[in-house]
Amino acid sequence: MEARAIVVTRRLPGVPFDALASRFRAGDPPPDGTMAREELLRRARGASGILCTLPDRVDGDLMNAAGSALEVISIFAVGVNNIDVAEATRRGIRVCNTPDVLTDATADLGFALLLAAARKLPEAERHIREGRWTGWDPWGFLGVPVAGKTLGIVGMGKIGAAVARRSRGFSMRVLYNGRRRLPPATEAELGAAFRDLDALLAESDFVVLCVPLNPETRGLISRERLARMRRTAVLVNISRGEVVAEEALAEALAEGRIFGAGIDVYEKEPRVHPALLAAKSTALSPHIGSATRDAREAMGRLAAENLVAVLEGREPPCPVN
Ligand code: DGY
Repeated sequence: MEARAIVVTRRLPGVPFDALASRFRAGDPPPDGTMAREELLRRARGASGILCTLPDRVDGDLMNAAGSALEVISIFAVGVNNIDVAEATRRGIRVCNTPDVLTDATADLGFALLLAAARKLPEAERHIREGRWTGWDPWGFLGVPVAGKTLGIVGMGKIGAAVARRSRGFSMRVLYNGRRRLPPATEAELGAAFRDLDALLAESDFVVLCVPLNPETRGLISRERLARMRRTAVLVNISRGEVVAEEALAEALAEGRIFGAGIDVYEKEPRVHPALLAAKSTALSPHIGSATRDAREAMGRLAAENLVAVLEGREPPCPVN
């Protein structure tokens, strides 16, 4: 019997491509970068599995192109916002992702951005690198304190909880908002108190966004909501760019209506709003939340395990539907 076909949309750390290719018909992924949409549509024809990542769009058209053989869509990412999960479910296609293995890496980056923005590290570093430093300056690069301040976490899933745990070292008071309230024992363990979103924004010195992108969270941090934040506050986004009205954030920063921001994800990646590039007290990173070698290799192994499990008729380790 001919081996079943799979598509791996790009070279990915940890994905045992040779082992997959020894069991399934898997054409080589592009040598670098993403697979063009047309090529993905063409290669998906008759495939039983698709192992994809960002920014591949897995929608009804791609599922149509694959046809009835398609059993599993396995994404190398925790966020599944680029997959039409409802459509996959309707067609009986399993969707799987790679949670947990990237929790610490992503929470670390969230805290790094928070500290970098609070202490103006990107500007200070540029100052040195550009040879502009003329000596110790009692007025230079005055930031905002972190220790003892209030941290508001929007989206208290695994990554949000990992951010809360990191804040203990800074004796921070933790507020959170999410779709549901946590059980009292979990609130106690995390030292976190629930607030509705508007109250959280008004009370927090640091707001860290950890929500998944879905219809409820798209545009969640709107112009109006940004206006509720303190002038001394810092907004950190490690979720998805579309959760924040980027133009409104850029304006709030430019007009000094909030102190700063730490941003890893953008509305129209890889485009970054030009006013964000110019904003003070703002640390920018290019969507690197999970970018440690350990996390990325674990994501690759898990994405492959998910794919193979479904194709072997077993329950995958990380099902989404
Ligand atoms: C994810 O996993 O969803 C990230 O954004 C990529 O690591």
